[in-house]
Amino acid sequence: MWILLIFVYISSISTRHVGELLCRQCGASITRQSELINITGVDQSQLQYEYDFPLAGKTTKVNVLTNPENQKFHVFGAKTAHLHFHGTPQSHATWYPGYKWTICLCKSCSRHMGWYFEPEKSTAVSEKKSFVGLVLDNVISADYVDTLTKVPDF
Ligand SMILES: *[C@@H]1O[C@H](CO)[C@@H](O)[C@H](O)[C@H]1NC(C)=O
Ligand SMILES: [Zn+2]
Repeated sequence: MWILLIFVYISSISTRHVGELLCRQCGASITRQSELINITGVDQSQLQYEYDFPLAGKTTKVNVLTNPENQKFHVFGAKTAHLHFHGTPQSHATWYPGYKWTICLCKSCSRHMGWYFEPEKSTAVSEKKSFVGLVLDNVISADYVDTLTKVPDF
């Protein structure tokens, strides 16, 4: 029984989290490499600058943006993420014209992770797709965490 439990535990460590992005505060899974997208359609007047960043093994565009309270965020995109919606969709001061936003929190620790962006009008001809904008500082790559916990090879 114990041997079985240990085996299950070890195999769950070694196969978990490859290419995953975790909440930096509590380690909950937020999204994974295959979900990453380059966000397009940013409001250029609100964009401070953008850069490419290697994230979970994929080059991803990061938009540096400020909100009306003058807080600065480094935002990258994902098609989906495991998050908890907080409040109702808002249209004012949106960074992505044509999209309204909803604040998203980590499901486990409630830390602010980013925003869910959905098209203002969902018409049949609309090419706009909803996406999640995540705050780069609030996630950590699981592959990177694994390098910190590995026993060195001599
Ligand atoms: C984002 O665009 C860069 C080129 O600027 C490309 O190399 C990269 O693969 C793209 N990333 C995603 C997640 O589509
Ligand atoms: Zn968390």
